[in-house]
Amino acid sequence: MWQSRRLLLSLLATCALIVCHSSGSSSGGSVGPTAGQLRRIWLQDHCSAGICTDVHIARSDYVIFSQAPIAKQLALTFLNSSIAKIPHLMFDTFPDLQQLRMENCSLESFEKPQFEGASNLMQLHLGFNRLKDIPKNIFLGADNLATLQLQNNQLKGLHNHSFHALKELKELSLAGNQLEQLPLSVFAGLRKLLDLNLAGNRLQAMPRGIFDRNLNLTRLNLADNRFVAFESELLKLQPHLQLLDISGNIMPELTLNFSMLEQAVAHGCDLRRVTIHGFVRDLDVHNNSLTDIPLITHASNVTGLDLSQNPLGNLQGNPFRRFTALLRLNLSTINAPEFAEGLFKKQAQLQMLDISGNGIYSMKITIFDSLKALQYFYFQLNNWNCDFLQLLMSSFVKRRDISFMEDVTAPELVDDYVDGIACWYDSNKVSKKCDGGGTGSSDAALELSIVRNEIKAFTELVEKKFIKVYRMLDEMKLKL
Ligand SMILES: *[C@@H]1O[C@H](CO)[C@@H](O)[C@H](O)[C@H]1NC(C)=O
Ligand SMILES: *[C@@H]1O[C@H](CO)[C@@H](O)[C@H](O)[C@H]1NC(C)=O
Ligand SMILES: *[C@@H]1O[C@H](CO)[C@@H](O)[C@H](O)[C@H]1NC(C)=O
Ligand SMILES: *[C@@H]1O[C@H](CO)[C@@H](O)[C@H](O)[C@H]1NC(C)=O
Ligand SMILES: *[C@@H]1O[C@H](CO)[C@@H](O)[C@H](O)[C@H]1NC(C)=O
Ligand SMILES: *[C@@H]1O[C@H](CO)[C@@H](O)[C@H](O)[C@H]1NC(C)=O
Ligand SMILES: *[C@@H]1O[C@H](CO)[C@@H](O)[C@H](O)[C@H]1NC(C)=O
Ligand SMILES: *[C@@H]1O[C@H](CO)[C@@H](O)[C@H](O)[C@H]1NC(C)=O
Repeated sequence: MWQSRRLLLSLLATCALIVCHSSGSSSGGSVGPTAGQLRRIWLQDHCSAGICTDVHIARSDYVIFSQAPIAKQLALTFLNSSIAKIPHLMFDTFPDLQQLRMENCSLESFEKPQFEGASNLMQLHLGFNRLKDIPKNIFLGADNLATLQLQNNQLKGLHNHSFHALKELKELSLAGNQLEQLPLSVFAGLRKLLDLNLAGNRLQAMPRGIFDRNLNLTRLNLADNRFVAFESELLKLQPHLQLLDISGNIMPELTLNFSMLEQAVAHGCDLRRVTIHGFVRDLDVHNNSLTDIPLITHASNVTGLDLSQNPLGNLQGNPFRRFTALLRLNLSTINAPEFAEGLFKKQAQLQMLDISGNGIYSMKITIFDSLKALQYFYFQLNNWNCDFLQLLMSSFVKRRDISFMEDVTAPELVDDYVDGIACWYDSNKVSKKCDGGGTGSSDAALELSIVRNEIKAFTELVEKKFIKVYRMLDEMKLKL
């Protein structure tokens, strides 16, 4: 088989030479007078050190790169190229190829057999192309492929056997396609799959059992689809999941039950309720509609919690008392101008705390007594009273050498700054005139600062244009 394909290759190469000579085209060879003919694209004209540029292959072209197989070519990357299809003899020409990158090359379709002889291929990057279909059994021959990237193509569906033969595949990206449904067995052959990215498709549901053969699946990205619910049942056979991302799917409720999930991400889902029965170590539910903190059975196993951008309001009733192992807690923009004194009593291990953007005016300084391990504390964009802020800085933040972030609020709106953090004096009634509970005033301040920044940007733009005009005038003067 190998011998005969090799013979074919050199025969074709000879033919190509004849075609090119008789048509009188240059040795560049990439411009054929008519489409659909045999063309040679000499590697040395387009490629150097594994990078090939300006290669153009039409749908009906039959292209060869070399007269004889080229050994030891391990990686090839195509840039600024349009390649309607991968050349038929690609892997006969480059039998040692391990990595092929043909991203953004206007790739349209596969040919059969496309990957025969590609048993050394380990990484195939075909993102940002125009593929509409992954035909059945197309990957026959690529039996050592570990990474397959097909993101940002135009795939509308897949077949049960689209990925047949990829028994070594570990990473598969199908993100940014138009997938609406998946057949039950589409991933069944991918026994070693670790990382699957289906983000940015149009999936509404998954067939029960779709991952039942992918026992090693550890990262699953389902973000930005059209799911209205998520069932942990789908991943009941995966005991140890590292990442589950279901962000950007609008669903009122989320219930998870995993024996161990390292990181659960569900932001921008308009969630009203989150319930977690099993174990989750890091939970990111920012930008939802939560009015209560998530109900987590094993709260003492959670190390990271991002609740920012939820309308939680003032946190009543010591909601974090069971979160004893927390290292990172984000309570930014939760509409909580007041924090109860005992709120962080059990967070002795907390390293990062973000309470920015809440319109906080003051708090009991003793609230920080329990935060013995804090290293990063973000409290900008609040409504701080200058006297309290001084105290906070001197008795806690600077004394313990804790990192913080400066404010971006414009000086015109601020009474004073303490170490770069905006604050207002009690006596100054002007800046506190709309302080009806804190957030109102902070929102107004924020809005004002946004407007000011826009004006600034606009002024800069106008100035730039003037500079340009002046330069043009100068140039004209010189010419005269
Ligand atoms: C690709 O094309 C662009 C513009 O046509 C050019 O600026 C760039 O240098 C090219 N890249 C390579 C690697 O040839
Ligand atoms: C794809 O290539 C075109 C030109 O060939 C370029 O303008 C565009 O930025 C590229 N897109 C990506 C995502 O690389
Ligand atoms: C895919 O395979 C499953 C069995 O594994 C079968 O039930 C289903 O009908 C097949 N789907 C398609 C679209 O062929
Ligand atoms: C799953 O991963 C483990 C450890 O990495 C490995 O020993 C095992 O063979 C893998 N299972 C499959 C079905 O690939
Ligand atoms: C969570 O899953 C475990 C094991 O799969 C099961 O025993 C338990 O009943 C589930 N809990 C809930 C509340 O569904
Ligand atoms: C927040 O989530 C909503 C969906 O609830 C989404 O429309 C919006 O784009 C998200 N905002 C940001 C900044 O991501
Ligand atoms: C949960 O935390 C407890 C200690 O608080 C620990 O003994 C246990 O191993 C943890 N469980 C998991 C699954 O990490
Ligand atoms: C906390 O959340 C806000 C809003 O989601 C985000 O902008 C900020 O970077 C987060 N803070 C940290 C320290 O990650």
